[in-house]
Amino acid sequence: MKRKVLSMILAASMLAAVLTGCGGGNASAPAADNAAAETETEAPADTEAEAPADTEAEAEAPAAEGGKIGVSMPTKDLQRWNQDGDNMKKELEASGYEVDLQYASNDVATQVSQIENMISSGCQVLVIAAIEGDSLGTVLEQAKEANIQVIAYDRLILNTDAVSYYATFDNYKVGATQGQYIIDQLKLDSEAGPFNLEIVAGDPGDNNARFFYGGAMDLLQPYIDEGKLVVKSGQTSFEDTATQAWATETAQSRMDAIIAANYADGTKLDAVLCSNDSTALGATNSLEANYTGDWPIITGQDCDIANVKNLIAGKQAMSVFKDTRTLASKVVEMVDAIMKGGEAPVNDTESYDNGTGIIPSFLCDPVFADVNNYKELLIDSGYYTEADLQ
Ligand code: BGC
Repeated sequence: MKRKVLSMILAASMLAAVLTGCGGGNASAPAADNAAAETETEAPADTEAEAPADTEAEAEAPAAEGGKIGVSMPTKDLQRWNQDGDNMKKELEASGYEVDLQYASNDVATQVSQIENMISSGCQVLVIAAIEGDSLGTVLEQAKEANIQVIAYDRLILNTDAVSYYATFDNYKVGATQGQYIIDQLKLDSEAGPFNLEIVAGDPGDNNARFFYGGAMDLLQPYIDEGKLVVKSGQTSFEDTATQAWATETAQSRMDAIIAANYADGTKLDAVLCSNDSTALGATNSLEANYTGDWPIITGQDCDIANVKNLIAGKQAMSVFKDTRTLASKVVEMVDAIMKGGEAPVNDTESYDNGTGIIPSFLCDPVFADVNNYKELLIDSGYYTEADLQ
């Protein structure tokens, strides 16, 4: 029953995404120059209060007229969050706001204390990409009491009524794009098979991970049920395939064990459904070290630089491009509307229930990416330079 309701919610989300796209908006400067941030070290959690290395608000900048906005990002470890944070900061500043941008080292306690500081230092709207969807209820109670509106950024914040809006990409569609790709590439509707599949899902604490998994598995499960797709490891449920913190190393060591137990004898692995690029990188590393058969189809999402290089090298078959400039522009529009006392733009009011009710959402459109269209998507649009991908 629960699954049926989830499927209905997910299907509605997919339909909504087909009907709407993310408005282009005024994309900010190319994110390619942000790639360097990848190598920046994060401030350890306990030094945050003294001299937070991740604090990007410039104390000496003249006080912005528009007011102060807090932007809380999960980590600098993954390329995409650096781009999200930089784009948000640039665009909010260009719209006249002062920005307190913080990265939380993938540590929930750090994120909570950074948000507390944002509340006490006078931020008027909070934009939060949660590390764990379910862990911010208490701190967001404080925001609500202080009349500070909260926009959940990319990841839904669960079980608190302090969240006013949600801005994300259509997460179900990301998974469906990956699942459909595997169906098309293996020609599951015309070939006899059977084909071997393994699954690497995302972080169980991230609400998005279930949407990615659901979008792909709603399409792939019928082929598993009829025996055309075989998961030799036997690991098919979300819980069995989840990857804590989306960590590359965790995905890699799980894949090491799967290969050793099922594919070491030359058995062909046809496809690995990876929910995002960091897990795809883990699967790819493991296959390179341990697998001798024909190279499988590997899916991903985000178009991280390392993974685009793998697309070009033929190691990863596809990714899903989520233009963080577009999401940032949309969130700046939302912030603006809230600060002016109005309602933020949304295009979905049925897909995302956070446990306290539906959160009005804006879903941007994710785009299929592979070796044939990456130049147009990523280079021509100024997201990366040719040099970034060498
Ligand atoms: C995001 C993905 C990202 C993953 C790991 C998800 O919430 O939607 O784009 O790959 O987190 O950071």
